[in-house]
Amino acid sequence: MFKVLTFNNISARGLDRLPRERFEVSSEIQQPDAVLLRSAKLHDWAVPETLKAVGRAGAGVNNIPVEAMSERGIPVFNAPGANANAVKELVLAAMFLAARNICPAWAFAQTLEGDDAAMNKQAEAEKKRFTGFELPGRTLGVVGLGAIGVNVANAAKALGMNVIGYDPQITVRSAWNLEAGVRRAHSVDEVMAAADVVTLHVPETDDTRGMINGSRLAAAREGLVLLNFARAGIVDDNAVVAALDAGRMRSYVCDFPSAALKGHDAVVALPHIGASTNEAQENCAIMAADEVRDFLETGN
Ligand code: MLT
Repeated sequence: MFKVLTFNNISARGLDRLPRERFEVSSEIQQPDAVLLRSAKLHDWAVPETLKAVGRAGAGVNNIPVEAMSERGIPVFNAPGANANAVKELVLAAMFLAARNICPAWAFAQTLEGDDAAMNKQAEAEKKRFTGFELPGRTLGVVGLGAIGVNVANAAKALGMNVIGYDPQITVRSAWNLEAGVRRAHSVDEVMAAADVVTLHVPETDDTRGMINGSRLAAAREGLVLLNFARAGIVDDNAVVAALDAGRMRSYVCDFPSAALKGHDAVVALPHIGASTNEAQENCAIMAADEVRDFLETGN
C-alpha cells in the first residue's frame, strides 16, 4: 500500500486516480511515499525518509525545493498546461478591464449618491475620465511562450491584436501551437519597446527575478498596461509604482497581493486566482496524481 500525503485541497477527481486498494490518501499521513500539493511551501518541511515523489497540481514549482529533492533522488512532477485555459481567461479579463478602466469606473460608481436621477447626473459629468481604448490593432507583447503564453498569444490574435512574443527556450510544440502571424522577438527589450500591453508568462528563476525593472519600464511605450499572472518576483513593484506615478504607465494588473501596490488607483492586485477554476484544479490534480501513481507503481 502506497501512502500519499495531501497538502491543500486537491480535487477529488485527481485523488480518484489513486485506487484506494493500492493507495492510502490523506492529509494526516506520517510517513508518506509521495506528496500531492497545490501552493503549500515545502522549503521548511522536514522531508521524511520514506518520500519517493512529489506531485504539484500546478505549473510552477517554486514552492518546492526541487534541487534538494533531486539530490535525494526524489522527482518533482508538475502539471504544465493543465491550467493554461484558466490563466488565459483571467489574463484576457485583465486586459479588458485595464483597457476600459473597469475597476476605477466601478469604484467611482460606488461613490454616487442620491436617487437614480441624481446618480446619473454625477455619472454623466464624470464618465469622460474613464474613456478607454480598444484592442484590435494594439500590440500585445507576450514574454514566455509556454502553454499559457501561447494560449494568450493566440487569443489576442483572434481579438485582432498584433502579437509579439519572446521566449529564448521555446519548445517545438509551443512554436507549432502558435498562430501564424505572431511575431517572434529576440529580447524582452524588443517586446517592451513594441507593445501597448505586456503579459508575463515565465517562471521565477535567477534569470527572471526582477526582470521588469525601472529601466525596462522606462524603455516601454508610453501608457503601458502590464499584466503579471506568472510570479510576483518577476516585477519590481516599486519601479511599477514610480512609472505609474510619473504617468508613463497606464496600469498594472497582477495576481499577487503586495504592500507596495496596495491602494494604488492604477493597480488591480488579485489574490493568486489565475488557476482557480474547478476545471483547472481538476486537470492539474489529475495530471499530478497520474504522474505520482505511475512513478510509485512502475518507477517511471
Ligand atoms: C501555477 O503555478 O500553475 C499556479 O501557481 C497554480 C496555482 O495557483 O495553484
